[in-house]
Parts: sequence; C-alpha cells; structure tokens
Amino acid sequence: MSNKRVLLVLGGGIAAYKCLELIRRLKEHGIAVRCVPTAAARALVSPLALAAVSGEKVYDSLFSLTDEAEMGHIRLSREADLVVVAPATADLLAKMANGLADDLASTLLLATDKPVLVAPAMNPRMWAHPATRRNLERLAADGIAILGPAVGDTACGEVGAGRMVEPHELLAAILARLEPSSRPLEGVRALVTSGPTHEPIDPVRFIANRSSGRQGHAIAEALARAGATVTLVSGPVAIPDPPGVRTVKVETAREMAAACEAALPVDVAVCAAAVADWRPAEVPAAKIKKETGAAPPVLRLVENPDILAGLARHPTQRPRLVVGFAAETGALEAEARTKRAKKDCDWILANDVSRGAVFGADRNRILFLSGEGPAEPWPELSKEEVAARLVERIAAALGRGPS
Ligand code: CTP
Repeated sequence: MSNKRVLLVLGGGIAAYKCLELIRRLKEHGIAVRCVPTAAARALVSPLALAAVSGEKVYDSLFSLTDEAEMGHIRLSREADLVVVAPATADLLAKMANGLADDLASTLLLATDKPVLVAPAMNPRMWAHPATRRNLERLAADGIAILGPAVGDTACGEVGAGRMVEPHELLAAILARLEPSSRPLEGVRALVTSGPTHEPIDPVRFIANRSSGRQGHAIAEALARAGATVTLVSGPVAIPDPPGVRTVKVETAREMAAACEAALPVDVAVCAAAVADWRPAEVPAAKIKKETGAAPPVLRLVENPDILAGLARHPTQRPRLVVGFAAETGALEAEARTKRAKKDCDWILANDVSRGAVFGADRNRILFLSGEGPAEPWPELSKEEVAARLVERIAAALGRGPS
C-alpha cells in the first residue's frame, strides 16, 4: 500500500492520544498520514507529536498563508484516498451532518470528494442524545462509514457506549477500505495457535513461559484481513482479541490441542504458540502448603501433546499447509531443519531467542525454511510485517496470489 494516503482529522476527545499508535501502525503498512487536528484536539495531543510520528507537516489553520501557498485546503482534502475522523466528537459529527465549515477540519470534510470513515468517541449520554442519533442517521445516509463506538469505561468516568474503538480495529477498517480487493484468502479456513500455555501445579500455581502472543495474534489478524476464516486458539495473554477472528481461549496444552482438533477441518494451520512441553503429573485439588522443616516438593513432569506434530500427522484431516515456529538458542538453521523433519510440518519460521529480545518484543528476525532449497533469512521486521509476509507466502502456496 505504498502509494496510499490517509487524511486524519482529529477531534478534541481524550482518545486523540490513541491516534499516535494508529498513525504508527498505518506507516508500518506503508500508508502516508497527514494530520489535521482541531483546536480542541491540539489541547490533547501536540501537533509536534503528530508531526514526529507521521513524518509529515501537520495542518491546523484554515487561514495560513504559507499553507495555502504550499497546499490549498481543497487540495489537501482531495489528495487523500480516505479521510478518517478519529476521535469523532459529538461536535464534529454535528458539524459534518449540517455542513458547517468554520475551521480547517470541518472545511476539509465538506470539501472532500473521498470516502470518509468516522470513529465516534464521547460521553455515553451524548452518544444516546436524540440530536446525536439524528446526526448519525444523516451521516449514514450521506454515505459516511461509522465505526464504533465501543462499550466500556469512558474518560469521563461513566460506563456505556462512547469509547473510541481501539487503534487495531480502526487500522483493520482502514486497510479493508483502502484495498477492498486484497482478499486473496477468501474462502480459506485457517487455524492459528498463539500465546503461552499455563500448566497448573496446584489451584494457585502454574508453569508458564514468556510468550506474549503478539506474533500469533498478528498472524491471525493478517489472515483474516486477507479474507480467511480464522480460528485463533490462544493461551492466556494480555493483548486484545484480533478483529474479525474467532478466538478460543484456553489455559493448558491439552485444552489447546482439543480446541485445535475441534477447529478442523482447515486449509492452513500456523502454530505460533509457545506450548509448555511438560506439565506436572499430579495436580492436587488443594494448595500445596509450606510445612516448616519439610523438604520442598518435587515436581514430576509428563510430556504434553505436540500440537504441531499432531496436526501435521493428522490421520484424516491434515491441513494442506502446516506451519510451525522454532525458538532456538544456537545452530538456528540446523535445529530448524531437524524440527521440521521431526514434526512433519511444511514450513518453519525459526528465530534466535538466545539474545532474549523476541518474547514480547516489537520486532523479529526470521529464518524461513520451506524445505525446498536453502533457508531464507528475512530482515528484521515488526511482528505485523512478519505476519504480512507469511500471509503472502501462504496465499502463493495455496495458488491464491503472486508466487
Ligand atoms: N509446539 C506444539 N506443541 C508442543 C510443543 C511445541 O504445537 N507441545 C509447536 C510450537 O507452536 C512451535 C513448534 O512446535 O510451532 C516448535 O516449538 P519449540 O518450542 O521451538 O520446539 P519444541 O518442540 O518445544 O522443541 P525444543 O523445546 O526441544 O526445541
């Protein structure tokens, strides 16, 4: 999407700060973002921060002689592929519904000939007010796309509908609008595992690992965006469910294996979860107590089912493509080749975890092993970029995209 451009109009809601994350994510997808904050938005998020994150000049005045000489406000509104209003306050929505144009933001919104997407954010009572309802009806009739708001706690302390949708949901909606035809995996069923597993020791303790689930969740989201029907089986994580994906939440490896089995048949399975290899053999119903003078308890472990190998060797419903990850601390390529053969999977994405900067980190350096020919080192990429690359490869392998 390297030639796409979004014009982002920021209204004066506290959610304006979330737009910094949105801009960063849009830029990761190669989308240029020009920001137009209203006067109220400028009180909440500084134009300097917007300029720094977007890497573009921030436009905020209707009557700026320099801006008009360089880029007239009409041109600014026409040069975008999509106009996004976030947060769309009750005031901005009212202006839009009535065609008011008394500042740069509202003037652009009246002058544009491009599709407009709004993400409302306001107090729940303001959202429910008949005036706002009327304005939204008018905007919908004018062809404006409305995303959200979400239900939950609002900045003003009241609970209800009024929270702006999260940046990743807005991102997904923007990407879908910018490239509605980029759905090469339409009709493809996909299964993704993600996150760690928790293996109980007793009712209050468990064995776990450092997996954040970010890579697996990013893959599920990218597959869904490409049109696949996705089941994400996730261990306990602290990140939100990806939009457009059916997320099944589990705790243990055995629950994860059962949820994966229940999700079959699928065309492609990507096992990104850091499944605990072992679990305590016996789990007492009561908490293990620390008796004075007694020796510490000894944990006897038994092996967990290998979900990746189980899918790759499934007797009746093997997915056409089975993809695994390999977290290694040495001899990356050799270990990844051995793992691929040992688990009978088609591809392995190997990463070196010896430097400790993979679990929970933003970026990932992958060695891609497809079995045919030499391993392919990928450059250091964000986890979203790794997901996008993998989805391209999956589409190509299933005959759905450029090979
Ligand atoms: N995996 C799985 N089920 C398990 C263990 C691992 O599905 N019980 C999957 C992971 O999701 C990953 C791949 O197997 O795709 C490799 O995981 P990794 O931890 O690197 O390998 P292990 O099989 O655990 O081998 P080792 O720890 O000995 O390197």
